[in-house]
Amino acid sequence: MEQDTFILAIESSCDDTSAAVLQNRKVLSNVTANQSVHESFGGVVPELASRAHQKNIVPVVDQALKIANIVPSQLTAVAFTSGPGLLGSLLVGVSFSKSLHTALGIPLIEVHHMQAHILAHMIEGEGQSQPKFPFLCLTVSGGHTQIVKVSDPYTFEVLGETIDDAAGEAFDKVAKIMGMSYPGGPLIDKYAKEGNPDFLAFNKPKIKELDFSFSGLKTSFLYTLQEEVKKDADFVTKNRSDLCASIQKTIVDILLEKLELAATSHGIKEIALAGGVSANRELRTRLQELAIQKGWNSYIPPFEYTTDNAAMIGISGYYKYITRDFAKNTLTAKARVSI
Ligand code: KG4
Ligand code: ZN
Repeated sequence: MEQDTFILAIESSCDDTSAAVLQNRKVLSNVTANQSVHESFGGVVPELASRAHQKNIVPVVDQALKIANIVPSQLTAVAFTSGPGLLGSLLVGVSFSKSLHTALGIPLIEVHHMQAHILAHMIEGEGQSQPKFPFLCLTVSGGHTQIVKVSDPYTFEVLGETIDDAAGEAFDKVAKIMGMSYPGGPLIDKYAKEGNPDFLAFNKPKIKELDFSFSGLKTSFLYTLQEEVKKDADFVTKNRSDLCASIQKTIVDILLEKLELAATSHGIKEIALAGGVSANRELRTRLQELAIQKGWNSYIPPFEYTTDNAAMIGISGYYKYITRDFAKNTLTAKARVSI
């Protein structure tokens, strides 16, 4: 019987600085500092993000250790996101982790950000059940939209993905068109609650097999609004909830249509959601409804593990620790890297 592992995990791929401590598959702490500095820019400003990570990383790690009631000498390994993401942001986490690895003499574990979003499902928590392998995961974030077949914690196969914008990007871009701050996804979700999803209909893209496309939807949303605003300058303010509900319904329709196709064609009934957009209420509810209808077992991560967080890096690190898959200290960050 192996001893318990205590892994410190670091996530800094985009605009959240996060640190977590896991005891095997259980999360002891998961601390995230969000960066409000980007709100007024309509998107993440890479230069500002790197600086904010640099400022936040030490206090965030410190707090994660305190909450977990762990001192550095008890740590078994340090796991960190090596990519994909913003290079300057990633470098902060990579450098910090390497220093810790050298100072403490503990193994260094490299984690792929998108694999981590998926493996967040394997975190042990009260009332949470884990998907059985093989399962399908619809991974929807600000940078990715993929349907992934997960055969075990080490084997990921992308069955389909976006050929242009990611689903989260689509949410953020249409929100920006309506004058909302970044990130727009959670705001659209909020306003959509009171809106009519059938207020406006948008054409769905015709993309082959299991791939997605969202850039046409954004353009058609922009043109529709421009036409309406010519007739009534207050169109957006007056109809904000209805617009949010309509665009949200269209995005969710597109996602679920392809997910259903993937499940049928691969004969898999274990279906999971992951990534920032999996926080979306409409997507969560509609997946659960579809699962009942189709006889699937559906898995939706708890809210704290949907958007970027270090707990998901910790669980991925745990699996790599089991196989002693350690990184060299000459390793560097990778802005682009396939799953
Ligand atoms: O996974 P994540 O935190 O970061 C990336 O790896 O990209 O995902 C962030 C994305 C953003 O585009 C954000 O607008 C979207 O997830 N998002 C949502 C919701 N919460 C976050 N989109 C729709 N509804 C939400 N409730
Ligand atoms: Zn992410």
